[in-house]
Amino acid sequence: MQIKDRPIIIAGILIFLAIFTFPLWSAMGKTAPEPKVELPKDVKECVAPKDYMRTSHMQLLNEWRDSVVRDGNRVFVAFNGKQHNMSLTSECLRCHTDKAKFCDQCHNYTGVNPFCWDCHTYPKESK
Ligand code: HEC
Ligand code: HEC
Ligand code: HEC
Repeated sequence: MQIKDRPIIIAGILIFLAIFTFPLWSAMGKTAPEPKVELPKDVKECVAPKDYMRTSHMQLLNEWRDSVVRDGNRVFVAFNGKQHNMSLTSECLRCHTDKAKFCDQCHNYTGVNPFCWDCHTYPKESK
């Protein structure tokens, strides 16, 4: 390597680094807007406290499925004493009537795509 090539090589490395790390620094300070979910208007409480639902609704759905499919038990007694029919379509979507404005808002945001709807149905969606 000759001395006079050095600046060119260093410039080349800097340009490479800038391009290579672009996705990292270009996203700094910017995040996608929070998902906006449409909550039911006529009821105040979910089948479990909101914080629990937010983080653990997938586990709860698995428990419901196992209870129905393995034990034949469809009755869920909630934290507030209310009874619920353990059903994805008939219960969750009875209150959360619009899948597109509720479930999908978060799932699209986080990039999860539950396969439940291959078999389970949902009421009409808004687009
Ligand atoms: C009786 C009506 C009702 C049923 C049935 C119901 N929900 Fe909810 N859900 C609500 C209400 C009302 C809220 C908002 C609670 C609050 O603000 O404290 C909520 C909140 C939630 C949240 C948190 C949303 C947020 O803004 O963080 C999730 C997730 C959720 N529900 C999923 C489900 C799932 C999954 C099911 C079925 C297992 C279900 N819900 C069944 C009424 C219901
Ligand atoms: C407040 C945001 C939010 C709402 C509303 C919400 N989810 Fe989720 N859901 C998530 C997140 C985040 C994950 C991924 C969690 C993870 O990967 O650990 C998830 C994962 C799931 C999974 C597991 C999928 C998988 O592939 O692991 C199921 C099933 C699910 N949600 C069902 C529902 C249903 C049904 C509704 C509507 C009644 C709903 N969720 C509403 C945030 C939400
Ligand atoms: C291959 C088809 C299939 C897929 C995919 C599937 N299920 Fe199911 N699920 C069923 C069948 C069949 C039953 C039994 C129906 C009954 O006895 O009422 C059931 C029952 C359930 C039940 C209790 C009964 C009811 O009405 O909801 C829950 C809750 C449930 N599944 C949740 C889920 C969730 C959550 C997912 C996605 C993570 C999922 N299922 C994916 C076929 C499927």
